Amino acid sequence: MEELRYNPVPLEKAYSLLNGGGLLWICTKSKHGRYDLAPIAWTCPLDYEPVTRLLFVCDPGHATFENIVQQKEFIAALPTYKQKSLVLQTGSVSGRSLDKFAQWDILYSKGTVVDALVPKGVAGWLECKLLEIYRPGSVAIVCGESIAAFALPDAWKQVLHHVEGEHFYRPGDRV
Ligand SMILES: Cc1cc2nc3c(=O)[nH]c(=O)nc-3n(C[C@H](O)[C@H](O)[C@H](O)COP(=O)(O)O)c2cc1C
Repeated sequence: MEELRYNPVPLEKAYSLLNGGGLLWICTKSKHGRYDLAPIAWTCPLDYEPVTRLLFVCDPGHATFENIVQQKEFIAALPTYKQKSLVLQTGSVSGRSLDKFAQWDILYSKGTVVDALVPKGVAGWLECKLLEIYRPGSVAIVCGESIAAFALPDAWKQVLHHVEGEHFYRPGDRV
């Protein structure tokens, strides 16, 4: 059998081996009424019965975090690989300093039950109510429960996966 060669992985980069699901845009609304969205790569399903629950790791300094604490709801949208540039743009600045939807002329539809905006062209989205927030160390783990969800039939192959920095990949064939 062929000898496989493994390179050491720096421990601050080992997370990139764990990134499983597609990146999310967490879409929220501030107490001043400004709609926001931020790419979040560190996400995970949490449960599926009786309904899907999910978690994501969020820097508590993000406007997104403050908005969720205040509004107790958010939309987790799945950008497609075609939206990579917009993902990087919306992750480059805080929604506290500008209206990202206006800045990049992002077309949107409104959530059906959650008061947040869904960017046009995404592979799907989950509208969620806030369940719990955990604060291990300097980060926050936000747990949400879906109350509505919509997706393209082939959403799994449209989504955008993040490795690190500006390094992304798109899913291959189903096996
Ligand atoms: C590809 C990508 C992935 C990111 N993943 C995360 C993440 O998992 N958790 C997090 O707290 N921030 C993450 N960020 C950073 C936020 O999206 C970024 O700081 C954003 O501008 C925050 O916006 P806000 O202040 O309007 O919430 C990511 C950024 C990019 C570009």
